Amino acid sequence: MYDLMFRDGILKGKRILVTGGGTGLGEVMSEAYAQLGATVYICGRRKAVLDETAKTLSDKTKSKVTGIACDIRVAEAVDDMVAQIWADGGPLTGLVNNAAGNFISRTKDLSPRGFNAIADIVFRGSFYVTLSCGKRWIEGGNKGSVISILTTWIWNGGPFTVPSAMSKAGLNIMTKSLATEWGPHGIRLNAIAPGPFPTKGAWERLNPAASGGNTEARQTAGMARNGEMFELANLATFLMADGCDYLTGQTIAIDGGMHLAAGGNFARLAALGDAEWEAIRGQIRSANDKDKVQRSV
Ligand code: HXC
Ligand code: NAP
Repeated sequence: MYDLMFRDGILKGKRILVTGGGTGLGEVMSEAYAQLGATVYICGRRKAVLDETAKTLSDKTKSKVTGIACDIRVAEAVDDMVAQIWADGGPLTGLVNNAAGNFISRTKDLSPRGFNAIADIVFRGSFYVTLSCGKRWIEGGNKGSVISILTTWIWNGGPFTVPSAMSKAGLNIMTKSLATEWGPHGIRLNAIAPGPFPTKGAWERLNPAASGGNTEARQTAGMARNGEMFELANLATFLMADGCDYLTGQTIAIDGGMHLAAGGNFARLAALGDAEWEAIRGQIRSANDKDKVQRSV
């Protein structure tokens, strides 16, 4: 349970889907929402991971947290999941586009499949979930709130994470475009661009040992520290709670000023050579392989 800046029960009656909510930052936001009274749905490809997180969060918070196995790259599977949620107690009130894939690589070493592995999750998958919820909200005359989890690279580029940077930049423009198009329906869209908040999923793929701890090395400017999970949870709650319905189409960085002071991206990896990149790829592949055997969809 987090020490949050909001009163207990502020999200009572809210029904929120957090994609990728079984791990990392998605789990953090799911816990905060459940702690504040919301009914929460989490999805991902590893059913056992979702079930364990859902049970832990339900036990801790006493709110209903449900795990649904769904690969957001598959538009039909997304629509089935969203229909299942609507049938289970009514419309969602909120969606967090948090699920993502990423890894550091020299762009010249990427295959088209490597690009798609990331773009299909982040760019296309997040759109499928947003569309599936949005069309139901519009048809039903319901209000809705969407938060997309981006990165600060949407403003200055993401060398060595180009498919992620391109995809997240696309979601940034989705946020602004739909804030206008769907505003008349009472649907608002905002986004959060976090700096470094260490998680297992991100650190195995962006900060493998063979990269020389590059993520830590970036902590030299601005507040020069990583984010604390409760800080993200507070911002994600502020954007989801009632009280600022007039706030839409905005992307808020929470990075201690890092991207302003020092870029906040992986530019320094330009110093690495072929042997280091080969070792990095091997370490990322072994993390991917371990996760893959746990996938149920
Ligand atoms: C180059 C690589 C690669 C690497 C994979 N590929 N790893 N290419 N360097 N290190 C290529 C493969 O060779 C293959 O292409 C293609 O990508 C697909 O590989 P798969 O392993 O089959 O992919 P898939 O099973 O679809 O898995 C997707 C994934 C994986 C993105 C690769 O990492 C994943 O599922 N990640 C989910 C969790 C995650 O990434 N979390 C981090 C989020 S952090 P070929 O052509 O060889 O077949 C984040 C920002 C954090 O987003 C910011 C911090 C500051
Ligand atoms: P993470 O724990 O690896 O989270 C990624 C989640 O997405 C996992 O739960 C994963 O579950 C899910 N996912 C991936 N592909 C999916 C698919 N096809 N369908 C459904 N779910 C899928 O990493 P994280 O650090 O918490 O990242 C969460 C979000 O924060 C991402 O959007 C990331 O870009 C963003 N972010 C993180 C940081 C940071 O410092 N940690 C900084 C900036 C932005 P499965 O593998 O089980 O599917």
